[in-house]
Amino acid sequence: MTAHTAEKTPPPDEELALLKETLQRRLEQLLPAGSQRDLVSAAMREGTLTPGKRIRPLLLILTARDLGCDAHHPGLLDLACAVEMIHAASLMLDDIPCMDNAMLRRGRPTIHRQFGEHVAILAAVALLSNAFGVVASVEGLSSESRNQAVSELSAAVGLQGLVQGQFLDLQEGNLPRGEDDIVATNELKTSMLFGATLQLAAIAADAAPMVRQRLRCFAQDLGQAFQLLDDLADGHDNTGKDAGKDLGKSTLVATLGAEAVRQRLRDHLHSAEDHFTHACGQQGSTRRFMHAWFERQLADFQ
Ligand code: IPE
Ligand code: IPE
Ligand code: MG
Ligand code: MG
Ligand code: MG
Repeated sequence: MTAHTAEKTPPPDEELALLKETLQRRLEQLLPAGSQRDLVSAAMREGTLTPGKRIRPLLLILTARDLGCDAHHPGLLDLACAVEMIHAASLMLDDIPCMDNAMLRRGRPTIHRQFGEHVAILAAVALLSNAFGVVASVEGLSSESRNQAVSELSAAVGLQGLVQGQFLDLQEGNLPRGEDDIVATNELKTSMLFGATLQLAAIAADAAPMVRQRLRCFAQDLGQAFQLLDDLADGHDNTGKDAGKDLGKSTLVATLGAEAVRQRLRDHLHSAEDHFTHACGQQGSTRRFMHAWFERQLADFQ
């Protein structure tokens, strides 16, 4: 996913824009409508429907298609929406005062600033529960596949996943940390959800165990690259988030410097590409999409 693969053309921007619109419409349907008094529903909607990059659901749909899943698979869109709901919940919790105490998210005041901290916490819990409900009743999958999907997501969110990653990040992030500790925390807080996202794509496509294993490796590299990009972006003021939030935090950017992190990020992308090729072959819109996406982001955060 680096410059030597420049012959690849990504899926046209219009196709991605259409996919995002489809995701948006389905998310609107899957979230509770709520009444005027129902602030929790309003916070769930605000946190999820205010659009972010939608990288995880796009990745899920594109990868499933690359693996041979019918684009019209009746459950694919709902699996993608469930992942985005889990991600949105993780952002709400990440932002609250006892965690990162963030002011801005997706260009808007954070959920606890709009609705209060209690509402933000409850909305995050309700979003997680909603996401699992969506997966448990998704159409077009056998009950065995649905169970597998629930189990993948539960592992990614739980004590050995996002929760542990966030705990370690908060517990140790402001202390000096070794490189290995930072990488291990990034794996838990970021790669794990990418891992589950790709496993859901593989489950929808009924992919072979070897392919699923390769996608786990792909997700590890992709998650590391993604968190490094997020850390590189921290000093910039066009991210829709508080600039300089990581000041004093022992990220790899603080430890190794931005240039070394850019190189490391590219190494992860090379490795990710290699794993993806083994899983899906040389062709495939996911590779082209990720390549173009990272190049664009890296150019923005020079
Ligand atoms: C932010 O995720 C949290 C990290 C894991 C770095 P995104 O950068 O995907 O956030 P949105 O969805 O675009 O807002
Ligand atoms: C990612 O780390 C945390 C999550 C997985 C939610 P950050 O704390 O760096 O994410 P941002 O920068 O606030 O989006
Ligand atoms: Mg954080
Ligand atoms: Mg944060
Ligand atoms: Mg960050």
